[in-house]
Amino acid sequence: MFDTQALTHLPKPEQYRQLSSQARTLMAGERDRIANAANLSALVMYALPDLNWAGFYFYDGVELVLGPFQGKPACLRITLDRGVCGAAARTRTTQLVPDVHEFPGHIACDAASRSEIVVPLIHAGRLIGVWDVDSPIPSRFDVQDQSGMEALCQIYLASVFN
Ligand code: SME
Repeated sequence: MFDTQALTHLPKPEQYRQLSSQARTLMAGERDRIANAANLSALVMYALPDLNWAGFYFYDGVELVLGPFQGKPACLRITLDRGVCGAAARTRTTQLVPDVHEFPGHIACDAASRSEIVVPLIHAGRLIGVWDVDSPIPSRFDVQDQSGMEALCQIYLASVFN
Protein backbone atom coordinates (compact mmCIF):
# COMPACT_ATOMS: atom_id res chain seq x y z
CA MET A 1 0.00 0.00 0.00
CA PHE A 2 1.20 3.50 -0.83
CA ASP A 3 1.11 5.87 2.15
CA THR A 4 -0.24 9.23 0.93
CA GLN A 5 0.53 12.08 3.32
CA ALA A 6 -0.59 15.68 3.41
CA LEU A 7 2.35 17.95 2.62
CA THR A 8 0.59 21.07 3.93
CA HIS A 9 3.28 22.00 6.45
CA LEU A 10 6.11 22.17 3.88
CA PRO A 11 7.27 25.07 1.66
CA LYS A 12 5.97 24.70 -1.90
CA PRO A 13 9.27 23.67 -3.56
CA GLU A 14 9.59 20.87 -1.00
CA GLN A 15 5.94 19.85 -1.47
CA TYR A 16 6.54 19.41 -5.19
CA ARG A 17 9.92 17.74 -4.70
CA GLN A 18 8.26 15.10 -2.53
CA LEU A 19 5.23 14.83 -4.82
CA SER A 20 7.47 14.26 -7.85
CA SER A 21 9.33 11.54 -6.04
CA GLN A 22 6.07 9.90 -4.91
CA ALA A 23 4.60 10.17 -8.42
CA ARG A 24 7.64 8.39 -9.91
CA THR A 25 7.28 5.61 -7.33
CA LEU A 26 3.52 5.28 -7.93
CA MET A 27 3.87 5.04 -11.71
CA ALA A 28 7.01 2.92 -11.87
CA GLY A 29 6.42 -0.08 -14.11
CA GLU A 30 2.91 0.98 -15.17
CA ARG A 31 2.16 2.49 -18.60
CA ASP A 32 -1.63 2.52 -18.58
CA ARG A 33 -2.70 6.14 -19.04
CA ILE A 34 -5.96 5.76 -17.09
CA ALA A 35 -4.39 3.96 -14.13
CA ASN A 36 -1.56 6.47 -13.79
CA ALA A 37 -3.90 9.44 -14.28
CA ALA A 38 -6.20 8.11 -11.55
CA ASN A 39 -3.37 7.69 -9.07
CA LEU A 40 -1.80 11.07 -9.85
CA SER A 41 -5.16 12.78 -9.27
CA ALA A 42 -5.56 11.07 -5.90
CA LEU A 43 -1.97 11.74 -4.88
CA VAL A 44 -2.21 15.48 -5.58
CA MET A 45 -5.69 15.90 -4.11
CA TYR A 46 -4.69 14.26 -0.82
CA ALA A 47 -1.21 15.78 -0.55
CA LEU A 48 -1.73 19.46 -1.37
CA PRO A 49 -3.78 21.90 0.71
CA ASP A 50 -6.80 23.93 -0.44
CA LEU A 51 -7.84 22.00 -3.55
CA ASN A 52 -11.38 21.05 -4.57
CA TRP A 53 -10.70 19.34 -7.91
CA ALA A 54 -7.71 17.67 -9.56
CA GLY A 55 -7.87 15.63 -12.72
CA PHE A 56 -7.46 14.98 -16.41
CA TYR A 57 -9.22 15.75 -19.64
CA PHE A 58 -7.99 13.77 -22.65
CA TYR A 59 -8.06 15.07 -26.22
CA ASP A 60 -9.94 12.74 -28.58
CA GLY A 61 -8.90 14.60 -31.75
CA VAL A 62 -11.92 16.91 -31.60
CA GLU A 63 -12.49 17.99 -28.00
CA LEU A 64 -11.46 17.35 -24.40
CA VAL A 65 -13.16 14.39 -22.71
CA LEU A 66 -13.25 13.93 -18.93
CA GLY A 67 -10.70 11.47 -17.57
CA PRO A 68 -9.79 10.30 -14.06
CA PHE A 69 -10.19 12.94 -11.35
CA GLN A 70 -10.85 13.66 -7.69
CA GLY A 71 -13.59 16.10 -6.71
CA LYS A 72 -17.19 16.77 -7.63
CA PRO A 73 -18.61 15.39 -10.89
CA ALA A 74 -17.47 17.60 -13.77
CA CYS A 75 -18.49 18.45 -17.34
CA LEU A 76 -17.90 15.54 -19.67
CA ARG A 77 -16.67 17.34 -22.80
CA ILE A 78 -15.01 20.71 -23.37
CA THR A 79 -14.43 22.13 -26.83
CA LEU A 80 -11.09 23.88 -27.37
CA ASP A 81 -12.77 27.29 -27.65
CA ARG A 82 -14.21 27.07 -24.13
CA GLY A 83 -12.99 27.56 -20.60
CA VAL A 84 -9.58 27.47 -19.04
CA CYS A 85 -9.03 23.89 -20.16
CA GLY A 86 -9.84 24.80 -23.76
CA ALA A 87 -7.42 27.75 -23.60
CA ALA A 88 -4.60 25.54 -22.26
CA ALA A 89 -5.22 22.96 -24.98
CA ARG A 90 -5.57 25.51 -27.79
CA THR A 91 -2.55 27.63 -26.88
CA ARG A 92 -0.50 24.72 -25.51
CA THR A 93 0.54 26.89 -22.58
CA THR A 94 -0.17 26.56 -18.86
CA GLN A 95 -3.08 28.72 -17.73
CA LEU A 96 -2.69 30.23 -14.27
CA VAL A 97 -6.03 31.83 -13.32
CA PRO A 98 -6.03 33.74 -10.00
CA ASP A 99 -9.76 34.48 -10.19
CA VAL A 100 -11.95 32.27 -12.36
CA HIS A 101 -14.74 34.87 -12.25
CA GLU A 102 -12.49 37.15 -14.29
CA PHE A 103 -11.75 34.51 -16.92
CA PRO A 104 -14.05 34.88 -19.95
CA GLY A 105 -15.83 31.61 -20.66
CA HIS A 106 -14.77 29.86 -17.48
CA ILE A 107 -16.82 26.68 -16.99
CA ALA A 108 -17.98 26.36 -13.40
CA CYS A 109 -18.19 22.64 -12.65
CA ASP A 110 -17.99 23.32 -8.93
CA ALA A 111 -19.31 26.72 -7.82
CA ALA A 112 -16.73 26.69 -5.00
CA SER A 113 -13.80 26.99 -7.44
CA ARG A 114 -12.13 30.41 -7.27
CA SER A 115 -8.69 29.85 -8.81
CA GLU A 116 -7.30 27.30 -11.18
CA ILE A 117 -4.22 25.98 -12.99
CA VAL A 118 -4.39 23.97 -16.22
CA VAL A 119 -1.30 22.39 -17.80
CA PRO A 120 -1.43 21.10 -21.39
CA LEU A 121 -0.15 17.55 -21.90
CA ILE A 122 1.97 17.46 -25.06
CA HIS A 123 3.91 14.42 -26.27
CA ALA A 124 5.98 14.36 -29.47
CA GLY A 125 4.22 17.51 -30.64
CA ARG A 126 0.76 15.99 -30.09
CA LEU A 127 -1.89 17.28 -27.72
CA ILE A 128 -2.73 14.44 -25.31
CA GLY A 129 -5.01 16.38 -22.97
CA VAL A 130 -4.83 18.72 -19.98
CA TRP A 131 -4.20 18.47 -16.24
CA ASP A 132 -6.64 20.69 -14.35
CA VAL A 133 -6.42 21.63 -10.65
CA ASP A 134 -8.94 23.92 -8.92
CA SER A 135 -9.05 25.66 -5.55
CA PRO A 136 -11.74 27.39 -3.48
CA ILE A 137 -9.10 30.01 -2.50
CA PRO A 138 -8.46 32.99 -4.84
CA SER A 139 -4.86 33.17 -6.15
CA ARG A 140 -4.10 29.70 -4.72
CA PHE A 141 -1.58 28.93 -7.51
CA ASP A 142 1.64 30.77 -8.37
CA VAL A 143 4.71 30.18 -10.53
CA GLN A 144 6.04 27.65 -8.03
CA ASP A 145 2.85 25.65 -8.47
CA GLN A 146 3.21 26.07 -12.22
CA SER A 147 6.71 24.59 -12.34
CA GLY A 148 5.73 21.87 -9.85
CA MET A 149 2.59 20.88 -11.77
CA GLU A 150 4.45 20.95 -15.09
CA ALA A 151 7.10 18.65 -13.61
CA LEU A 152 4.37 16.24 -12.42
CA CYS A 153 2.88 16.26 -15.92
CA GLN A 154 6.26 15.39 -17.44
CA ILE A 155 6.57 12.46 -15.02
CA TYR A 156 3.09 11.33 -16.05
CA LEU A 157 3.83 11.62 -19.78
CA ALA A 158 7.14 9.78 -19.35
CA SER A 159 5.38 6.94 -17.53
CA VAL A 160 2.83 6.51 -20.30
CA PHE A 161 4.93 7.05 -23.41
CA ASN A 162 8.50 5.98 -22.56
N1 SME B 1 -12.76 24.92 -14.96
C1 SME B 1 -12.63 24.29 -16.19
C2 SME B 1 -13.71 23.29 -16.42
C3 SME B 1 -13.40 21.98 -15.82
S1 SME B 1 -13.71 21.92 -14.19
O1 SME B 1 -13.06 22.97 -13.46
C4 SME B 1 -13.36 20.48 -13.57
C5 SME B 1 -12.59 25.27 -17.34
O2 SME B 1 -13.13 26.37 -17.30
O3 SME B 1 -11.97 24.90 -18.30
